[in-house]
Amino acid sequence: MTKRANNLSIDAKRLWSDLMETARIGGTAKGGIRRLTLGEEDRRVRDWFRAECESLGCSVHVDEVGNMFAIRPGRNNALPPIAMGSHLDTQPTGGKFDGVLGVLAGLECLRTLHAADYETHAPVMLVNWTNEEGSRFAPAMLGSGVHAGVFDRTYADTRKDGEGVSFAEAIEAISYRGEVGIGSTPIGAMFELHIEQGPILEAEGDTIGVVTGVQGMRWYDVEITGRESHAGSTPMAMRRDALPAAAALVLAVQAAARACPGAVATVGTIAVHPGSRNVIPGAASLSVDLRHPDAGALDGTEAAIEQALAAICAEHGVTGTLTRIWDSPPVPFDPGCIASVRDAAGSLGYRMRDIVSGAGHDAAYIARIAPTAMIFVPCAGGLSHNEAEDASFEDCGAGAQVLLQAVLDYDRR
Ligand code: GLV
Ligand code: MN
Ligand code: MN
Ligand code: MN
Repeated sequence: MTKRANNLSIDAKRLWSDLMETARIGGTAKGGIRRLTLGEEDRRVRDWFRAECESLGCSVHVDEVGNMFAIRPGRNNALPPIAMGSHLDTQPTGGKFDGVLGVLAGLECLRTLHAADYETHAPVMLVNWTNEEGSRFAPAMLGSGVHAGVFDRTYADTRKDGEGVSFAEAIEAISYRGEVGIGSTPIGAMFELHIEQGPILEAEGDTIGVVTGVQGMRWYDVEITGRESHAGSTPMAMRRDALPAAAALVLAVQAAARACPGAVATVGTIAVHPGSRNVIPGAASLSVDLRHPDAGALDGTEAAIEQALAAICAEHGVTGTLTRIWDSPPVPFDPGCIASVRDAAGSLGYRMRDIVSGAGHDAAYIARIAPTAMIFVPCAGGLSHNEAEDASFEDCGAGAQVLLQAVLDYDRR
């Protein structure tokens, strides 16, 4: 039986069918999605999103960095809209739920309101934020960050992907440079539904995570410089090999995170120059992703990694730099929005718990400019950023129902 709120029930089957239909746009052989920011698949899913929202009578506006805002009028359109939404871009080997669920559940809420001819007090808005993943253009949460004033348009435009294509070139190529000025669309509050991307809800048998905040995240570029030389004729003692130094740093990053309870750190990319079998590597570039709910712990772990890098460089006869390229501090969500989520889940009878997000989300930046909260639902085995990522039909439906009720609860306050 579908659970009801305000006499309005979302249609979980319709939501599921949207999830499966859009999963074909960039669908991979292993059942995931590859829909890189501002690529051809992103254009196709954006076109689909726009058409669906317009068919519900929403006006769809696109801003200068491609953020898409679908607005359903309310009784008092002078009020800033209550927003739902997330992102439609994916990791290179992404799953079917990360981001997409929050957008399509918001669409399902709009459909439910539309079918019931339900008039909200404030307008309700569904947003598709550009480049949440940060995998084609670093950093993550770029579109929501621009909207919140964390980054400016020039910063966004000059981001480059691995092939040297700029954000500006990519957005023009898919014709998604909109007219709406940066940050000019007001937000009264924002609710983002997302899969947990971790194992806690599933392990504890909870259906809903009431997200109280997002942990802090820092990204770094590491450059290690040694000297290229002949693999056959350079004695071991005379080498300045960048790669063993990089390998030692990878282990040092892991050790620094393990030494700080609650910290997680990842070296996700490594490039070796010149990349020839019989040339001793002269340079190595690595990325580091470091996260913790406490800013002081991030400082301490960062310092430990810096010290390790200095010691490794001395030992290997190379030089190294660690550059912080992104810092998203820990974010506490708004007590009023959290209460709307908790009340919604409680009145629907779902098992729930409070949870801090380990992953980054657009809500983390929107929280700087509007009251914000998030809703999590479990994902199988806690697996995400993987083509095998999975979430159940029931949990997706439950999350969408809580989203609708939280929005309506907030609208009534
Ligand atoms: C993006 O999905 C992140 O959490 O890094
Ligand atoms: Mn996501
Ligand atoms: Mn993601
Ligand atoms: Mn994310």
